[in-house]
Amino acid sequence: MIVLFVEPIRFFDTTLRDGEQTPGVSLTPAEKLEIATHLADLGVHVIEAGSAAASAGERESIRAIADAGLAAECCTYVRALPGDIDLAADAGADSVHLVVPVSDLHIGKKLRKTREQVCEMAWSAIEYAKSRGLIVELSGEDASRADQAFLAEVFREGVERGADRLCFCDTVGLLTPERAAGIIPPLLFAPLSIHCHDDLGFALANTVAALRAGASCAHVTVNGLGERAGNTGLEELVMALEVLYGVDTGIVTEELYPLSTHVARLTGVPLATNKPIVGEMAFTHESGIHAHGVMRDASTYEPLRPERVGRKRRIVLGKHSGSAAVEAALRDMGYAPDSVQLAEIVARIKRLGDAGMRTTDADIMAIADTVMEIEFTPCIELRQFTIVSGSNAIPTASVTMLVNGDEITGAAVGTGPVDAAIRALQESVADVGSVRLDEYSVDAITGGTDALVDVSVKLSKDGKTVTSRGARTDIIMASVEAVIAGMNRLLREEHEDRSQDSD
Ligand code: KIV
Ligand code: ZN
Repeated sequence: MIVLFVEPIRFFDTTLRDGEQTPGVSLTPAEKLEIATHLADLGVHVIEAGSAAASAGERESIRAIADAGLAAECCTYVRALPGDIDLAADAGADSVHLVVPVSDLHIGKKLRKTREQVCEMAWSAIEYAKSRGLIVELSGEDASRADQAFLAEVFREGVERGADRLCFCDTVGLLTPERAAGIIPPLLFAPLSIHCHDDLGFALANTVAALRAGASCAHVTVNGLGERAGNTGLEELVMALEVLYGVDTGIVTEELYPLSTHVARLTGVPLATNKPIVGEMAFTHESGIHAHGVMRDASTYEPLRPERVGRKRRIVLGKHSGSAAVEAALRDMGYAPDSVQLAEIVARIKRLGDAGMRTTDADIMAIADTVMEIEFTPCIELRQFTIVSGSNAIPTASVTMLVNGDEITGAAVGTGPVDAAIRALQESVADVGSVRLDEYSVDAITGGTDALVDVSVKLSKDGKTVTSRGARTDIIMASVEAVIAGMNRLLREEHEDRSQDSD
C-alpha cells in the first residue's frame, strides 16, 4: 500500500551538527544561536544543536539554544554512552539523537563489537536517557547497508524499551527511492525520521521517497551542508514538497533565501551559482527567448515565483539577450533609446559576450551613453591610494579623490587590504551618498601569481543597484577600479535626461 505523506511533515534540522561536520566549518556559540533562532522562526520542529561530548564550546551552544525560548526542540547527538547522555542533559537539551551503528560493517569494523553488544549498549542508553528526562530519537547508523531484519528488531525493541522516535540513516548515500519505498514500511514502530546523504546526488529523492513510504520527519541542513557531499537541503525539500506535491509544510518559505545566505556567510561555504532555489542563477535569465518569456508570463520559464522563497527575478544581459530584455533593462536605468539606438546597443552587448566578457550594468550604461551620444562626466576621479598591510600592521587604506571637483582624502582600516580600500572609498563619497557593497567576487582569469584578476561588485544606494567590474593584475587596484566604476554610475545625477542624444 502506498502512503502519501504522514502530515504534518516534521523538519529536524542538523545544520549545527552534521552541517558543521562539513570539512572546514566551525561555528561559535553566538553564531550557532543566531542560526538556531533563524531556523526556529522559519518553523523547523527540531534543531540538532551539536554534539554535547565534542567540546566545551558545543555545550555552551546547546545551553544557549536550549535557554533561548525558541519554538523548536533543542536536540543533541549522543553515542550510547552514559557520559554523553549526562553532558546532553546537563547542557539543557530537550532530546537526544542517540546513534548506534546497525550495519555489520560498522558494528564489526568500526566498533569491533557484536550485534548483541551494540544492542545492550543501546538498551541501557535509552533507559538512562529516559531516566534523565530526555526525549529519545534512536538512530540506526548505516541503516541502508544493515541486515533489515536486524534493523527492524533493534527499532522494535528500542521502542519497547522507551525510545520515542526512530531514525533511518543512509550514512553514505547508497539508498535509492525504489528501495526506500520497500524498506521504510516495516520499520514504523514509532514516528520515523529519514536522514540522507547526497554522495550520489539522491538525498532529496530518497528523502521524499521515505516520506511517501511512511516516515514522518526529514533530517535536513541549510544549503545541504554536511559530511562529504552533504545532507538533504532544507530549502530544496521544502520547495519540492510544496511545489511538486502540494504539501503545506508550515515553513515560512520567504525566509529560505535569507536563511541560506545567513548560513553561507557564517560558515564561509559559498553557494554554487546554479544551486536550486538559493543559487545566484536560480531565478536569473539571460537568453532572449527566456527573458522575453518571463517578461510576458513568469511561469513560462520559472517553476515558482522567486518572491515565494524571498528572492527577486534577475534579467542579466549578455550575448544571448534579445532586444526586449535589453530595452527593459535600459528603461530601468533611465534610458529611452529609439529603435535604431536599441539595435546598436544590443549588437554591442553581443560583441562583448562573443569576446568572452560578462556584461555588467556599468558596461551597459557606458555602451548606451556612447550609442545615444549622452555626455557622461564621472563624478569621482581617483588621484592616489596607498595601502599598508602586513604581519605587524592593521590593514589601512588612504585615498585621495576628486568628488564633484572637490579633493577629498579619506582613510579606513579593514579586515584585509581590499576591505580597507573599499571602506576608504565609501567614506570618501559619504557626503554625496551612502553606497553599500552588496556583493564582491573575484576570478583569476589566467593562472599563476601574476594572473589577471577580474573583480565584480554589486553596489547599492537608496534601493538602486549597479554591477561593475575591474580587471588588473593587482587585486586591490582591480577592486578599487570596480567600485569606482560602480559608484560613478550610482552617483550620477538622477535628473539628467537619458532619453535621447545630446543635440
Ligand atoms: O549520517 C549519519 O549516519 C549520521 C549519524 C551520525 C546520525 O549523521
Ligand atoms: Zn549524517
